[in-house]
Amino acid sequence: MCGIVGYIGYRDAFPIVIKGLQRLEYRGYDSAGIALYDGNQINLAKTKGKVEDLKNKAKSISQEGSIGIGHTRWATHGVPNDVNSHPHYSNSGELVIIHNGIIENYESIKQELTKRGYIFQSDTDTEVLVNLIEEVQKTEGVKLGKAVQIALNQVVGAYAIAVFDQKKPDEIVVAKLGSPLAIGIGEGEFFIASDASPFIEFTNNAVYLEDEEMAIIRLGKEIKLRKIKDDSVAYPNLLELQMNLEEIEKGGYDHFMLKEIYEQPRAIKDTYRGRLLADQGLIRMAGIDLNMEKFLNANRIIIVACGTSWHAGLVAEYIFEDLARIPVEVEYASEFRYRNPVITDKDVLIAISQSGETADTLAAIKLAKEKGAFVFGVCNVVGSSIARETDAGAYTHAGPEIGVASTKAFTTQITVLTLIALKLAKAKGVFSESKYHEYLTELENIPNKVEKSLQSNALIEIIADVYKDSTNCLYLGRGYNFPVALEGALKLKEISYIHAEGYPAAEMKHGPIALIDEHMPVFVIATKKGHYEKVVSNIQEIKSRKGKIIAIVTEGDEQVRDLADHVIEVPETLESLTPLLTTIPLQLLSYHIAVMRGCNVDQPRNLAKSVTVE
Ligand code: F6R
Repeated sequence: MCGIVGYIGYRDAFPIVIKGLQRLEYRGYDSAGIALYDGNQINLAKTKGKVEDLKNKAKSISQEGSIGIGHTRWATHGVPNDVNSHPHYSNSGELVIIHNGIIENYESIKQELTKRGYIFQSDTDTEVLVNLIEEVQKTEGVKLGKAVQIALNQVVGAYAIAVFDQKKPDEIVVAKLGSPLAIGIGEGEFFIASDASPFIEFTNNAVYLEDEEMAIIRLGKEIKLRKIKDDSVAYPNLLELQMNLEEIEKGGYDHFMLKEIYEQPRAIKDTYRGRLLADQGLIRMAGIDLNMEKFLNANRIIIVACGTSWHAGLVAEYIFEDLARIPVEVEYASEFRYRNPVITDKDVLIAISQSGETADTLAAIKLAKEKGAFVFGVCNVVGSSIARETDAGAYTHAGPEIGVASTKAFTTQITVLTLIALKLAKAKGVFSESKYHEYLTELENIPNKVEKSLQSNALIEIIADVYKDSTNCLYLGRGYNFPVALEGALKLKEISYIHAEGYPAAEMKHGPIALIDEHMPVFVIATKKGHYEKVVSNIQEIKSRKGKIIAIVTEGDEQVRDLADHVIEVPETLESLTPLLTTIPLQLLSYHIAVMRGCNVDQPRNLAKSVTVE
């Protein structure tokens, strides 16, 4: 977590770094800071709070200079306060650093440096690192790049860092292990950032550092890449970026989350564009085509992910088992990586991640690869660590997701996973031709049906107003819609801070039913396909205990309408595709409730978009 930004070139660095930090605020927003070199000295401002607070604080320093680095923080070591904010100076005041990641052995290094006379202002691991670099410079008499390389060989942990030395003011040294770092390459200027969004309006050319690589970025020179381990030369892999500025701005919506909810018809289309050729009865996915045997011969598929991506994995479990008849296990990446799982070279592991940077998912991938499994990634962010680390994969093509609460990532992940399941079902011959064609055609109808589901927005706003002051909510669903219930509850709690729990509807009677009284809103997914009658019975049970029922139903439903306090309709579709529709009203409900409660929808407290620490 944390976002880092840097600039070295001929323009004013201040507005570039500030704007870049605002674009990266999704990565952390408990404090922010900036350091600028004005030709004579470093001017630094940092503060607890958001980048907006930093802009105010920075009024007290000179904003001149065409070299600058900035940071937006999600605290790991040391509470969020002004002192713990980045950038951090070294003791001499000549080096300044920004860091995303964790230095795990910082305590022992700190003790050693303290013995040598170093004094620390903050509680952070980062201040230890910058002083270690300074100590190496002093004792070994080496330049900044070499000192960074030697110092990093002494630390254990994860980092994306940018270091500036005012004795050598024409260069910035950057390095990466475990946390992302992109370098934008312009004409006579360079940009540094955790992802490409801070520099997309200036250049489409970028180099993404690989783990254990560092770069010396010198004005007027080509960037030099080196391996941190042995100082050998590394070769930059220059990428042309596809992202555009419009995609990363709010486009007239009040919040990124709302924009991203409304983008789903387009995002789902983009996910299957060029892959789904319904008229030819074809699904083209190179990552699957080239590895078909691996999937067909697999003993089982293991899906690893976290949070919302894990919920998409649960939907995929139903899809793969139901359509392709392949056994699936879905694991929290954080549990999987530490529980000594049985994995063989007959297993296929699918890792799902919007950001492609989630530390636990990345670790689960590494573990599975070590044990010989074939690892397939489903990621949104192109060129992300997970996309690079996996043997093959499929991008979701949802476009940048900036709102911290995941929305379009979820539906596009389900779309990709459905395409894969259909391909495998066809290859295994477990599907009749007509059923296969029915699926392909219906998948093409989904964007229009999502569009239709979005039309309930005004009704949902009214319902949100009724339940905005609730303190607890239950979400129930069965079969394909059980994971949607979990996702609905997660959306509500993370952005509105209302306690919510998702359950398989039938599990209600094994405990949660005790919670139901006239104050408990229960959101029930009760679409026509998928255990409808059984869910209706569950609704009866809630009603007889005076619970408030808000039901997501299939268009034209009368039976549930008679029982529920509110109904929200979604169009009819195939059972396995219902999550793509039923999730939409639940996203909108959470959004409106959070807005009505005055919560920061796009940047909920304590969260960050990209969880690059475990
Ligand atoms: C919830 C949310 C998180 C993420 C989780 C995994 O709205 O955004 O639960 O889904 O942190 O992130 P990715 O998909 O980037 O691996």
